[in-house]
Amino acid sequence: MARAAFTRMRDGTAEEYALINAREAAYNRTLHLRVLDAARALGAAEPDPGYAVSRLVHSLQSATRAERDGRPVDYVVAALIHDIGDGLAPYSHGSYAAAVLRPFVSEELCWIVSHHPVFQMHYYGAQTGDDVNARDAYRDHPWFGATVEFCERYDENCFDPGYDWLPLEHFAPAVEEVFSRKPAFR
Ligand SMILES: [Fe+2]
Ligand SMILES: [Fe+2]
Repeated sequence: MARAAFTRMRDGTAEEYALINAREAAYNRTLHLRVLDAARALGAAEPDPGYAVSRLVHSLQSATRAERDGRPVDYVVAALIHDIGDGLAPYSHGSYAAAVLRPFVSEELCWIVSHHPVFQMHYYGAQTGDDVNARDAYRDHPWFGATVEFCERYDENCFDPGYDWLPLEHFAPAVEEVFSRKPAFR
């Protein structure tokens, strides 16, 4: 059987669903490659966002700094893809990246990635008319400090053309490791 014959899901047979599940499992085994492609695509976005470095270089600097600080592989990968949603979710890019990571990393790391956009406002809000204290809404949250730390060390400072960032290929094994884990459905 090359493909299922049903036209409505309710009519599918166990054999057809076995085929589909096998195909899905094979597809999901290459998830890490699609994540890398999405990161790579940040470097080709048009128009360029206008920062001193591209979104891809920003992401590579973030991951490189995290790795050089001795952060665990999950954290390095989260840093690499924290802005991966810029293309399709420009108004909710933090939660987009968190959704990609969620089955494979801790809730804390997902929370950091999900909330980084509002925490980042602290660094540019005075210039753009945005609320520099927006992050204070989360001041009592247990992961407030960790999110401030992420933005301080691996985001707001990662626009430096003079920093010696590592190439995307360097992070391919880390991306494969994280996205090959047994996923938690959450
Ligand atoms: Fe961001
Ligand atoms: Fe960023």
